[in-house]
Amino acid sequence: MSQQHHDHDHHDSQAGAPVVVRLRGAGRSFGGAPALAGIDLTLRAGERLAVLGPSGAGKSTLLGLLNGSLEPSEGTVELFGAPTVGLASRPRRELQRRIGTISQGLDLIEQVRVLHNITAGRLAEWGAARSLAALAWPRPDQRALDALSSVGLEWAVHERTERLSGGERQRVAIARLLIQRPELVLADEPVASLDPTRAAEILRLLSRVSDEIGTLVVTLHQPPLAREHCTRAIGLREGRLVFDTPIADLATDRLDELYARA
Ligand SMILES: Nc1ncnc2c1ncn2[C@@H]1O[C@H](COP(=O)(O)OP(=O)(O)OP(=O)(O)O)[C@@H](O)[C@H]1O
Ligand SMILES: [Mg+2]
Repeated sequence: MSQQHHDHDHHDSQAGAPVVVRLRGAGRSFGGAPALAGIDLTLRAGERLAVLGPSGAGKSTLLGLLNGSLEPSEGTVELFGAPTVGLASRPRRELQRRIGTISQGLDLIEQVRVLHNITAGRLAEWGAARSLAALAWPRPDQRALDALSSVGLEWAVHERTERLSGGERQRVAIARLLIQRPELVLADEPVASLDPTRAAEILRLLSRVSDEIGTLVVTLHQPPLAREHCTRAIGLREGRLVFDTPIADLATDRLDELYARA
């Protein structure tokens, strides 16, 4: 087998598992300026992908394509085998129910109790009436309590979210994912503001969540955390995919190139 052929084969640790994400020549521009271009990427169930790259490289834009909140302006995006372009609102909601996102700003509602934020993880699944009732009169159901206890926050059910520390708030966002039970988890810099111990703890939790329920895509600014918790890494620079490698083969000089100043 030629070396080149070998290169194309080398991240198939989940070969045979169902394809969760398939991007072909996918890109996205904002006002004519490309944030992401020409991305080819296939992700299979069970993979844990680290998305690395300097600020502005297109990492959050990629996650937007992966949860269907952004339409590609070039190429195609397929999630669970279905193209995302031109989906009607109902099938789009069906699709998004299978995907759990922790966005860069967490999207927690600050002024309400932790339980409210957890319960929000089920709103996509519940109809409007039940959702409103749950928000007006939240009752801790077993699933919410289980989710909180698996992130070590059972004590915080009735705390106001704004009173929690950065690490605790990250864990609330993870508990919200747990009760949604998504098959694909997208986490955008989930450890950006945390000390190294907390960061490792959150990554361990996310890996555990994805072990139980599927596939993880996480953007990180710390390659060592990617090495420890992910199975594969891609590098983005100025909107382009510059490497795609099993984590064991992630070479330090690739990282130096990735983060080098232009
Ligand atoms: N909604 C938007 N409108 C206009 N430009 C945008 C929008 N979202 C992203 N961009 C631009 O696209 C490029 C990539 O942004 P993106 O947020 O994907 O980068 P990133 O890798 O997530 O950066 P960071 O590490 O700082 O979070 C940037 O130049 C950014 O200004
Ligand atoms: Mg970002």
